[in-house]
Amino acid sequence: MPIFLPCFISVFLILSSVVNAQTNKNITLGSSITAGDISSSWVSPSKDFAFGFQQVEPGNFLLAIWFNKIPQKTISWSANRDKLAPSGSKVELASGRSLILSDPRGQELWRAKLSSGSPAYAALLDTGNLVVSKQDSVVLWQSFDEPTDTLLPSQTLGQGAQLIAPYSEQNYSSGRFSFDFTTDGNLALYTTNFPLFDSLNSDYLDYESQGLGFQVVYNQSGLLYLVGNNGSILTHMFSEDQVVSEDVLYQRAILEHDGVLRHYVYPKGSAGWSVKSFAPNNICTAKLQDTGSGVCGFNSYCQFGSDSKPHCLCPPGYSLLDPNYEMGGCYQNFPSQNCEAASKEKNEFDLRVLINVDWPLSDYEHYQNVTIDWCREVCLDDCFCAVGVFEETGDCWKKKLPLSNGRNDGSVDRTTFIKVRINDDISEKNYRKSNKDLIVLLSTSGLTNIVLLVAGFCFCLLHKKHIHVTRESKTTGKYSIHTFSYKELDAATAGFKEELGQGAFGVVYKGVIDDISGSPTSIAVKKLDKLPITADKEFTTEVKAIGQTHHKNLVRLVGFCEEGIHKMLVYEFMSNGTLSDYICGLPKPAWEKRLQIVHDIARGLFYLHEDCNSQIIHCDIKPQNILLDDDHNARISDFGLAKLLGPNQSHTYTVARGTRGYVAPEWFRHMPITAKVDVYSFGILLLEVICCQRNVQAEDNEDGGFVLLTEWASECYKMNTLDDLVNGDTEALANIPKLEQLVKIVLWCTEADTNLRPTMRMVLQMLEGLVKVPDPPNPSSYSSSMATRTHSEQWVSA
Ligand SMILES: *[C@@H]1O[C@H](CO)[C@@H](O)[C@H](O)[C@H]1NC(C)=O
Ligand SMILES: *[C@@H]1O[C@H](CO)[C@@H](O)[C@H](O)[C@H]1NC(C)=O
Ligand SMILES: *[C@@H]1O[C@H](CO)[C@@H](O)[C@H](O)[C@H]1NC(C)=O
Repeated sequence: MPIFLPCFISVFLILSSVVNAQTNKNITLGSSITAGDISSSWVSPSKDFAFGFQQVEPGNFLLAIWFNKIPQKTISWSANRDKLAPSGSKVELASGRSLILSDPRGQELWRAKLSSGSPAYAALLDTGNLVVSKQDSVVLWQSFDEPTDTLLPSQTLGQGAQLIAPYSEQNYSSGRFSFDFTTDGNLALYTTNFPLFDSLNSDYLDYESQGLGFQVVYNQSGLLYLVGNNGSILTHMFSEDQVVSEDVLYQRAILEHDGVLRHYVYPKGSAGWSVKSFAPNNICTAKLQDTGSGVCGFNSYCQFGSDSKPHCLCPPGYSLLDPNYEMGGCYQNFPSQNCEAASKEKNEFDLRVLINVDWPLSDYEHYQNVTIDWCREVCLDDCFCAVGVFEETGDCWKKKLPLSNGRNDGSVDRTTFIKVRINDDISEKNYRKSNKDLIVLLSTSGLTNIVLLVAGFCFCLLHKKHIHVTRESKTTGKYSIHTFSYKELDAATAGFKEELGQGAFGVVYKGVIDDISGSPTSIAVKKLDKLPITADKEFTTEVKAIGQTHHKNLVRLVGFCEEGIHKMLVYEFMSNGTLSDYICGLPKPAWEKRLQIVHDIARGLFYLHEDCNSQIIHCDIKPQNILLDDDHNARISDFGLAKLLGPNQSHTYTVARGTRGYVAPEWFRHMPITAKVDVYSFGILLLEVICCQRNVQAEDNEDGGFVLLTEWASECYKMNTLDDLVNGDTEALANIPKLEQLVKIVLWCTEADTNLRPTMRMVLQMLEGLVKVPDPPNPSSYSSSMATRTHSEQWVSA
């Protein structure tokens, strides 16, 4: 008993002091609040408002004023939104100084800038205004004079004051918009030069200057207006008949993250805030800005939703720069048209249609009295043209990147063409048409080329629909992948004990789970430690997409785990290791077995490129990424991971990886990355399987891509000394024509010119003997410039 008594007393003392702090209207000198101490805050006499710390992310706090009696966290003011306070930070009304926020080490994060003198007390008023006063009650500082994004009833703004919108709904940092009462007495809504807040772009408010304003008033009736020098009302921000009634408990006006100034009311007895009025009416049709991106970020467009809110959308072929931030702009998620190779590349592009979307200030050409088809073609033909816009009046505009001031403006009838890269090229389309036809891959005759291109194009248009339908019907939710918790995987791998290998993205562990029937099944758990931070939603979407990919030559993804920093993929376990270990093992694997393996890989890749729901470019085909199952069937692993990286990161990652031996030259040449990069890597892999030799002895040379083994293969082919290449492999030499056929396929696959390089479909058909393999492009000039090649190549079916 004597032990408990002191505890009891001290708890009582703490409680009583908290109660004290909350009922005492005046905050006395030396009072302080510590971040992380939940019970402490200073409340207004009516308890409607409170002042203290709000945790906005783990371990980081906002010193703020908030509505104290409602369940929704609604912050009306904050001191440090661009410099959050760590746990243990303290705000103190320091004697002889000011109201000061400092971090646990005593570093000052913020202070109330007093007009003069030293403070005597502070008080949080029932209006939500925090004041610091002198002994004689003269106010030295008040939060109403330093608004953040919100105005409360009875608050006024003087000339030069501004509200700055928060960054997003969840993030209170300064964002892209400001509402200014300018020093010359006008009201304006600006976009800031995000993320550098030091300059303003244009005013987007459609507001006629009414004359010199003296003060902006937000009064108890919920009216927000500009008052002139003589006291007359010059203009109202919200409509004048919006007067709030008796049964409204609270109200506020806030410049929100989307640039809209909204008047919110909280009716008595209701469960939350509702919008009563907002300005401007449609921010998407805001005034145009000469510089800057406009209301939405670059390359995106603003669409006013049925929820009366603006939404920033990316056009087809573009993705959000920051997947968590709608207003941050979009990037083109394919390589732009290369003007140097424009005519060659033309057929790799197509136009997607949007209705009424426009980027009015991104024009660089304007045509009149033209047709919609003409407008379409003229953009498609022009490597500079990113977007074409056709208006019913016969006007046609070409637009260039970056696109700004994007908007869906229903007031004019426009058809908008967005240029996107399609991954299939025309030769492939032709090939698809029929195996028996004569296929001309590259012809020196311009006329033939044009005829073929046109034919291929029509064919492609005709067949698009059909292909689409069959692809969809193939994947109607047949497979589902499992979501694992970290705990489950920790248990399955016995605490990540048995390491199977080091993958590109992190370590792979062996584990065991029970399958549906309850019997134990082995799994491989890939920890994605080295994966750059991506949006969780995007991660889940991509992983689910990968989970939809099923083929007997792919390692099946059975599930994933996504808990905060823990991102893991769970695959079926492959008992026979990697192809890399297999081909280099002794004795040499049987020739027939090796042939079967390359067929397996080719089928898996073909499926990824053409047959699955959406095309997957692997980007990292090499023997280490090919696994062998119980029956020594080859299965491709790590497919789809390039997508988790995104195109830019994938590029950096692939080039930086140093596995140059497998990497197609276009990675180093800033050329478009297409499925042909996998064909290149497949060629190298095929050669390794033929020779049972790794590429390791190959030295990288400067122009990247060409390695000793391929050059040697080319040499052996040219000199007709294939027995050297396979190092006296009797099995291989027993069928020289077959060996020669394979080497020719290798040479085609590793062709530097992507246009000459076949698709996986062609490779597969060559492997299966459905088509005769043509002689490779002049092997003697193999590693020299492709520009010296003059002869045309013909692909003849068997
Ligand atoms: C707050 O302090 C001031 C100055 O000491 C004093 O005039 C005022 O009466 C105090 N108010 C309350 C409610 O204690
Ligand atoms: C909020 O956004 C800013 C600006 O992009 C960023 O620096 C900050 O880390 C974000 N804060 C949180 C809590 O996400
Ligand atoms: C708010 O301002 C309007 C316009 O001046 C006025 O009619 C109204 O009475 C004011 N409301 C209050 C509560 O002062």
